[in-house]
Amino acid sequence: DKRLFTSFMLVTFYGHGCFKVDINGTHLLFDPFITPNEKAKHIDISTIPADYILISHGHEDHIADVKRIAERTNATLISNFEIISWFDKNFGVSNGHPMNHGGSWNFPFGKVKYVNAIHSSTLPDGSSGGNPGGFIVETVEKSFYYAGDTALHMDMKLIGEYHRIDFALLPIGDNFTMGYDDASIAAEMVKTKTVVGLHYDTFGFIEIDHQKANETFKKKNINLLLPKIGEEIN
Ligand code: NI
Ligand code: MN
Repeated sequence: DKRLFTSFMLVTFYGHGCFKVDINGTHLLFDPFITPNEKAKHIDISTIPADYILISHGHEDHIADVKRIAERTNATLISNFEIISWFDKNFGVSNGHPMNHGGSWNFPFGKVKYVNAIHSSTLPDGSSGGNPGGFIVETVEKSFYYAGDTALHMDMKLIGEYHRIDFALLPIGDNFTMGYDDASIAAEMVKTKTVVGLHYDTFGFIEIDHQKANETFKKKNINLLLPKIGEEIN
């Protein structure tokens, strides 16, 4: 596989907030919501590899396919304590690593920090999903920030001050999260020049004007990537 020699990190978009990031052959899947997503009907979840499934918060549009993929792959779930406990108690998915805000853990692929998000996190059955978060993943070669669902907030400045963020996965769809205007400010705060957009166009409330989104980032000299569902990017 020549990709192993040309790229260390490979990012695949599966629609909405769902991304896979491959780090030296380890597959990190974020917020799997694929089978209920009308725009992702061409994605076959039975073929998606996962060693770890990272869950930002408890909403259905971030956890819909966690159980199925975790059962097939035996992936380790990484999320806050409440969500990890919920998957164990309700579905017997016991292979979980609980975290809480501000905490970091060294996994074999790199260091993960669970960071603040301003949003909500109630689970589909009304259980508490704790407080919502995002993840900073740091490896020797590259580091990135997966914001999850969030408003723009000042803690992003701390991320930029104390972490090197090579690229950031940021919501841009507005209404339920920040829109692309605020996301461009978030990119400045975390000091990254590359942003992959998430949480847009899935349904009516979050449809965006791609041209305006691109112009907003271009004005700030930040590269906005809007991959097609199923597309891989380096
Ligand atoms: Ni949400
Ligand atoms: Mn959401």
